[in-house]
Amino acid sequence: EVMKETFNISMMEKKLKSHFNLQDVVVVPGDSDEYPWVKKEMGRACVSLMKKKFSTEENIIAVTGGTSISAVAEMMAPNTELEKALFVPARGGLGEQVENQANTICAEMARKASGKYRLLHVPDQLSKESYSSLVEEPSVREILGLIRSAAMVVHGIGEARTMATRRQSSQELVDKLRDKNAVAEAFGYYFDQSGDIIHKVLTIGLQLEDLATIPYVVAVAGGSSKGHAIQAYMKQGPSEVLVTDEGAAKAILSEI
Ligand code: F6P
Repeated sequence: EVMKETFNISMMEKKLKSHFNLQDVVVVPGDSDEYPWVKKEMGRACVSLMKKKFSTEENIIAVTGGTSISAVAEMMAPNTELEKALFVPARGGLGEQVENQANTICAEMARKASGKYRLLHVPDQLSKESYSSLVEEPSVREILGLIRSAAMVVHGIGEARTMATRRQSSQELVDKLRDKNAVAEAFGYYFDQSGDIIHKVLTIGLQLEDLATIPYVVAVAGGSSKGHAIQAYMKQGPSEVLVTDEGAAKAILSEI
């Protein structure tokens, strides 16, 4: 039984890797929609990848918010290679509750890894005017420079409608996402099923185009309900590694 399970999992990893054309895919057993411990297992798998890929020369690691990346922080252990890391949030406020914010998760991950961190203090609702003046602030510019020179980015992928609701987005945005058939969300960008961007939350930090030059971008997302979101994001998304679970893997593989 155990053998069969292992075989299935590694088959799924292989299929997903070639389908999405990724460098690496890790599938953990179970469905995180059903069992919360499965999300922790994704967190644990992500921590091992981070340790393996971490280099002390390029030590900046940018992280996003969300419960999946929070599970990565939870599973982080001290006295690892990662104590040389400088953790930064990938982007500013995206409308999440404190525990799901990139800043909170970044600080927690650094604490668990005995590493360092820097935070980005930006309001969630930014007008174009305040955006333009904020990015000129010397303290903000300095941290933006650090974020852009990250060697590794660890991020979540969400289902579009779930994310809009969780962020208590305006009715106008909810309508726009419905009209344009939004499927996925990552980094504050909403994508349709072809992976085209249909909306972008205005906040400072990493922009999608910056990710092209970042050597190691890892997505952590699982649960059968995220199958479509993962597929949509992966069509054009810049990530080269996916950490997921059996629930999402089965949902995706049943459709390709
Ligand atoms: O809001 C931050 C974020 O990383 C989003 O970009 C993403 O859609 C979401 O969180 C994922 O959250 P969760 O891991 O809780 O599904």
